[in-house]
Amino acid sequence: MESLTLLLLCLSLVNNIAISNARDTIDRVQFLSDNGETIVSADETFALGFFSPGTSKNRYVGIWYNKVPKETVVWVANRNKPLTDSSGVLKVNDTGILVLLDRSNDMVVWSSNTTTTATGDPIAKLLNSGNLVVHERSKGDDDSRDFVWQSFDYPSDIILPGIKLGRNLVTGIKWSITSWSNSSDPSPGRYSLRFDIDGCPQTMMRDGSTKVFRFGSWNGVQLIGQAAVTTNSIVKYSYVFNEEEQYGMYELINSVAPHKLMLQSDGIIRRTTWSSEKSSWITIMSKRGDTCDNYATCGSYSSCNINRNPICSCLDGFVLSNKQDSSSDCVRRTSLNCRGDGFLKLSGLKIPDTEKSWYNRSISLEDCESGEFWKMKERLHETQRRESVFLIHISITIPLKNGNAKLSIQNNTSCNKDCRVLCFNNCSCTAYAASNIDKGEHGCILWFGDLSDMKELSPSLQDIYIRMAATELGKISDHLDEEIELPLFDMSTIISATNNFSAENILGKGGFGSVYKGILKDGQEIAVKRLSQNSSQGLQEFKNEAMHIAKLQHRNLVKLLGFCIQAEEILLVYEFMHNKSLDFFIFDHERGKLLNWPIRFLIINRIVKGLLYFHQNSRHRIVYRDLKAGNILLDNKLNPKISDFGLARSFVGNENEANTRHVAGTYGYLSPEYIVDGLYSTKSDIYSFGVLILEIVSGKRNRGFTHINHHFNLLGHAWKLFVEDKCLEMVNATFRDSIDSSPEEVIRSIHVGLLCVQRNPEDRPSMSDVLMMLSSEWPLPQPKKPEFFIERDVIVDDTSSSNHEIPSSINQLTISDINPRL
Ligand SMILES: *[C@@H]1O[C@H](CO)[C@@H](O)[C@H](O)[C@H]1NC(C)=O
Ligand SMILES: *[C@@H]1O[C@H](CO)[C@@H](O)[C@H](O)[C@H]1NC(C)=O
Ligand SMILES: *[C@@H]1O[C@H](CO)[C@@H](O)[C@H](O)[C@H]1NC(C)=O
Ligand SMILES: *[C@@H]1O[C@H](CO)[C@@H](O)[C@H](O)[C@H]1NC(C)=O
Ligand SMILES: *[C@@H]1O[C@H](CO)[C@@H](O)[C@H](O)[C@H]1NC(C)=O
Ligand SMILES: *[C@@H]1O[C@H](CO)[C@@H](O)[C@H](O)[C@H]1NC(C)=O
Ligand SMILES: *[C@@H]1O[C@H](CO)[C@@H](O)[C@H](O)[C@H]1NC(C)=O
Ligand SMILES: *[C@@H]1O[C@H](CO)[C@@H](O)[C@H](O)[C@H]1NC(C)=O
Ligand SMILES: *[C@@H]1O[C@H](CO)[C@@H](O)[C@H](O)[C@H]1NC(C)=O
Ligand SMILES: *[C@@H]1O[C@H](CO)[C@@H](O)[C@H](O)[C@H]1NC(C)=O
Ligand SMILES: *[C@@H]1O[C@H](CO)[C@@H](O)[C@H](O)[C@H]1NC(C)=O
Repeated sequence: MESLTLLLLCLSLVNNIAISNARDTIDRVQFLSDNGETIVSADETFALGFFSPGTSKNRYVGIWYNKVPKETVVWVANRNKPLTDSSGVLKVNDTGILVLLDRSNDMVVWSSNTTTTATGDPIAKLLNSGNLVVHERSKGDDDSRDFVWQSFDYPSDIILPGIKLGRNLVTGIKWSITSWSNSSDPSPGRYSLRFDIDGCPQTMMRDGSTKVFRFGSWNGVQLIGQAAVTTNSIVKYSYVFNEEEQYGMYELINSVAPHKLMLQSDGIIRRTTWSSEKSSWITIMSKRGDTCDNYATCGSYSSCNINRNPICSCLDGFVLSNKQDSSSDCVRRTSLNCRGDGFLKLSGLKIPDTEKSWYNRSISLEDCESGEFWKMKERLHETQRRESVFLIHISITIPLKNGNAKLSIQNNTSCNKDCRVLCFNNCSCTAYAASNIDKGEHGCILWFGDLSDMKELSPSLQDIYIRMAATELGKISDHLDEEIELPLFDMSTIISATNNFSAENILGKGGFGSVYKGILKDGQEIAVKRLSQNSSQGLQEFKNEAMHIAKLQHRNLVKLLGFCIQAEEILLVYEFMHNKSLDFFIFDHERGKLLNWPIRFLIINRIVKGLLYFHQNSRHRIVYRDLKAGNILLDNKLNPKISDFGLARSFVGNENEANTRHVAGTYGYLSPEYIVDGLYSTKSDIYSFGVLILEIVSGKRNRGFTHINHHFNLLGHAWKLFVEDKCLEMVNATFRDSIDSSPEEVIRSIHVGLLCVQRNPEDRPSMSDVLMMLSSEWPLPQPKKPEFFIERDVIVDDTSSSNHEIPSSINQLTISDINPRL
């Protein structure tokens, strides 16, 4: 009877693992044997002992919830090396190493992976957190730095509050979990969850070595692979990234109930908490994900959306490599050309796999003024908002329907290290994004190589900027604003067209650089304006010209065919004009004969149409500011086209007149109010046009005009003849024969010319008035004596004026007679 009682007592001791007078430590003399003995944490939450999982007969050393009736093992020591009988003994040896001995053959089955050896009196202690730690008895367990080993560094398949997933860069320990093979076999199974450290670290779940689910990188708020974090009252996540440790972990808020995050042997991640009322584990979160969560369901450069059919779709500018297979990789429609590339900003995407990336959390995303870049916004899908960003070396503002686009000069050393510039400057960088989104977007991730595993996320967490050929971005912009057509030429195309900018191809030279003639492979002739890198004024004017010409398309304006941007070089490509400029003909005795009156009159009318377009037809009113014979180019049919918009300036809204301290333009064509007060308006162009008409009729330049009978300038001369009713005497002998059929046209032209050069801008007609005056027979108003009647007036006026601004204006007066022409 007594022996039976003893036996029953023994059995109950074996079965009931929670022994009341349990200790929580093992030391060199107190072993833990496989006889039902356990050690229990001080608060009795966890127990450590031998167990057999499920249907298995094998014996393992593990830690489980002490008070949860349902056996719940959270850690296993000898996962790979089970004992087949109860001969196991767990002890701490003199060097502080936990050893699991098989007493039947005295073999070490398992031992703790201890790098630092404990001197003195090492003990192993099971803490209330479920962490089994080894430390010197005298040190206590308050400070984890005193632990020579801890089970939390080697988790099995469960992450308890306080267990880290990540790595310790000092000790080299990588914290990861691996599923059990099955519920009866704790040996490492198919699935693992770890922290990949190649590129920007990301949390990855694998099946064997195959990536199956990417939780992504920590962005300061959450793992990027997840939909936005829902506020959670149970657990609080924290991530640490510093030079010693990089990890994520969670802790419980206001809860003492047992809680675990488990990677099940079927690959499902389940967060559960123990309910004592229900006496079972309650699932709080179970992550299986949808097809789009499966790693790289779609090919590279493709994004996944479960609500779409097919679920994969190529990003803008990319096409399927295999048209039959919607999940195949997508490839670029236009290959990259490095310096001419821009970026397409995409929102609402899970950012791609960061394995082949580089990151730095202290670099800013876009340090340079955001307005310096050409951005075009576009709304396509609900979740995906797109925007193009050009980063090139010239600033051109282009009005778009939904805001202004701007191409910019990127020459600011202080912002040369932002993420965008780093990516732009490295031709193998395929995309960039902020690494962190706390406190706004900051930090930098650069991708090298193809972008994969993207999924549409809503709401959007983080934008990604994908490198695209500028022409591709141009196409994307096409349907934003029909007016923008800025094809980009390859530098190699331009080099071969211009014979590598050979001296023989130079058409003209000026402050901003040279103009070269070129012939494209298809035989098209072009004129290439090359910006000289050492002229700041040239740069300004060049920018100005590009900006205006990009906006303006008219048959009487020289057409811009495209740009070429490479490194520091900026080139503008124009249509080639065969017959040079108007001054080349009208001021030359021989060539003047080639332009008879009907041709001249036609030229005058076409210039009117071009200017009218400037002043009224284009979206912004533009003052051309440098109208002169040298800027009127002639094509092979002698059609005039206005070129050189370097000084053009546009007005917005009701603004009619602007004031400038920098008087620019060409002497002889400048209106009095512009020279004297720096005021310019469309009426300043009218003045220049008046001068031009008189030059075309007379074959004489206003500037430097001399006459044997008087000391008047060309305007004075015209006025004198007009008053004396001897207008036709003004007509140059080289083409006088050709006016016989239409002398009225000549007289009318001179009359209009004189109206245009009136002193008071109000007295001058508008360009549309001029068009009407020249093409009808209506009586014209009587002109007054023109301004700058005598050439010297300019100097007299300037020096005698009391206006304080004058000296600076005069100093900056630009004599641009040497301006090159196309
Ligand atoms: C402690 O155990 C380890 C692993 O078996 C062994 O290498 C080491 O020599 C042991 N130390 C002592 C003092 O027995
Ligand atoms: C023990 O540590 C070594 C070196 O750090 C490592 O190679 C080995 O895989 C570790 N063993 C276990 C069981 O963690
Ligand atoms: C568990 O896996 C082992 C092999 O790892 C296998 O022998 C055993 O049959 C499995 N048990 C169950 C219940 O699936
Ligand atoms: C990150 O960038 C900052 C600022 O440019 C620099 O000081 C730091 O050394 C960089 N860190 C790394 C790891 O490259
Ligand atoms: C250069 O960039 C910095 C940072 O955006 C800005 O503060 C500074 O004004 C810029 N300098 C120039 C000359 O554009
Ligand atoms: C950019 O800045 C550098 C250094 O300040 C200068 O040498 C270079 O000419 C500049 N380039 C342009 C296009 O302004
Ligand atoms: C571009 O980045 C790659 C990867 O970081 C690097 O190997 C390469 O040297 C970089 N190239 C340049 C021109 O900086
Ligand atoms: C063009 O000329 C430059 C300098 O004159 C030279 O460095 C370059 O190699 C030439 N390029 C070609 C394609 O001939
Ligand atoms: C620019 O540099 C070229 C030579 O590189 C020189 O001939 C020219 O005079 C310079 N222009 C200015 C405005 O400094
Ligand atoms: C006529 O025009 C030519 C240029 O075509 C010029 O050289 C000549 O001086 C003009 N003659 C008169 C009398 O103005
Ligand atoms: C204008 O250019 C065309 C084509 O180059 C040429 O045939 C024609 O002779 C030129 N006209 C004049 C007046 O020079």
